[in-house]
Amino acid sequence: MSGPQHLPLHVAIIMDGNGRWAKKRGLPRLAGHKAGGENIRPVAKVFSDCGVRYLSLYAFSTENWNRPEMEVAGLLTLLSKKIDQETRAFHEQNTRLLHLGRQDRMSRRLSKKVQAAVELTKDNTGLTLCLAFDYGGRDEIVQAARRIADAGIRAEDIDEPLLARHLYLPDIPDPDLIIRTGGESRLSNFLLWQAAYSELYFSPVLWPDFGRQDIEQALSEYEHRQRRFGRI
Ligand code: IPE
Ligand code: IPE
Ligand code: MG
Repeated sequence: MSGPQHLPLHVAIIMDGNGRWAKKRGLPRLAGHKAGGENIRPVAKVFSDCGVRYLSLYAFSTENWNRPEMEVAGLLTLLSKKIDQETRAFHEQNTRLLHLGRQDRMSRRLSKKVQAAVELTKDNTGLTLCLAFDYGGRDEIVQAARRIADAGIRAEDIDEPLLARHLYLPDIPDPDLIIRTGGESRLSNFLLWQAAYSELYFSPVLWPDFGRQDIEQALSEYEHRQRRFGRI
């Protein structure tokens, strides 16, 4: 088992491979997204049981709007359904839900639903789960720059802590470990600022199949990493 000193405080996951999972089974891509969605609560439970405090999940990128209209619509519907079906259960597990990303390009109705789930769970003291939906790392930095300019902050007063305070979720620590499922080895615009010193772990397992054993393997590899942050 991981000793607490080697346990990541914050794990972020790029949940990739839903489409290929469906294709392998001769199913439509949306069936893969549905299966992927069903994997969220069990995975969150495993991390929470291990003692991880923050879990961020990449569900929809700013670039994913470029997918066929039907898939985008399906993903938005899935988000809405998931909130309806799962918020209560997360709340009962003492999970605090947060949204990471933009809400101005989803319907007002969906945005209100997202905000209601965040509001309902805001005082929970267990796992903090940040769902990244319509999230892009570059977009987040651009929005931060805009807010800084709007606030009339002088150039010489801008430093790294100030910029970090203008990101979407300034109170969430940087991820210690970023896991990408589905076999690709890239960040695809996830947490670009916050990933500066994250450990990266790439798993070939497709997201709907990513389970307890895969999580334990990732945590045990993390345990053996030596983080230097530029020091020796
Ligand atoms: C990840 O699965 C989920 C989203 C990006 C919405 P994909 O849909 O990218 O699955 P693959 O990469 O096509 O298998
Ligand atoms: C990354 O997956 C985004 C999410 C998992 C939400 P993509 O499937 O969109 O990434 P690329 O296009 O392969 O880089
Ligand atoms: Mg993909």
